[in-house]
Amino acid sequence: MHQTRSKVRLDTTMSNREDIAAMRRQYGEVGLVEANLPANPITLFDSWLKDAAANEIVVEANAMVLSTAADGRLSSRTVLLKDLTQDGFTFFSNYNSRKAQQIEKNANVSLVFPWYPLERQVIVIGSASKVSKEESEKYFASRPRGSQIGAWASAQSTELSSRAELEEKFANFEAKWPIGEQIPRPDFWGGYVVKPESIEFWQGRYSRLHDRIRYVKEDNNWHLKRLNP
Ligand SMILES: Cc1cc2nc3c(=O)[nH]c(=O)nc-3n(C[C@H](O)[C@H](O)[C@H](O)COP(=O)(O)O)c2cc1C
Repeated sequence: MHQTRSKVRLDTTMSNREDIAAMRRQYGEVGLVEANLPANPITLFDSWLKDAAANEIVVEANAMVLSTAADGRLSSRTVLLKDLTQDGFTFFSNYNSRKAQQIEKNANVSLVFPWYPLERQVIVIGSASKVSKEESEKYFASRPRGSQIGAWASAQSTELSSRAELEEKFANFEAKWPIGEQIPRPDFWGGYVVKPESIEFWQGRYSRLHDRIRYVKEDNNWHLKRLNP
């Protein structure tokens, strides 16, 4: 039984593989030139984020893939960038989730912004820490009521017996706070800021001679390096 299943899967993979291998795009002429780059990568990131947000094809320009690692195991998932300062990249989540448990054990994380329609990618390597309670509270208060109740209802990353269990929890919390009443932030929900140690900008170029510019923080100063593509 097991063998038959894996054979079917292999066949499917084989035909997909050829299609995937044939996918190829010629990337553009516009590249990254050191002389034109800002000394501070946050400035460049900010302008790339704005370009992504202005692009009609890019959905969720502020979506980033967060990877965490602990006990020799990796996990990745998408989260939304909600603030950007010189201190770093902020997202919000559940403090008991799988990602939170991994960050607790190992603060080293990476973020990937995959802006394919712009032939661009940014990779951030850094360390994650919780933002202040005030910052979490401020952002929580700005969220729509449904998202606030959702944060209370979801014990993120733990197993549910059914969809109904989640909806029932949601309904119970909804009834607890009448419409118009301020919903408090759960202690188990808040922000993380990823303080960057390096930020790498990738711009697609012709003949796979892509531009890779990595800013690395050393002695509190940003240094810029060009890498082979
Ligand atoms: C577009 C998109 C945006 C998301 N944004 C967030 C977010 O900002 N915070 C969050 O906790 N989960 C977000 N999620 C859900 C996460 O990808 C993930 O399923 C969840 O955080 C649980 O991850 P974990 O079990 O690895 O901790 C988002 C998912 C998608 C597809």
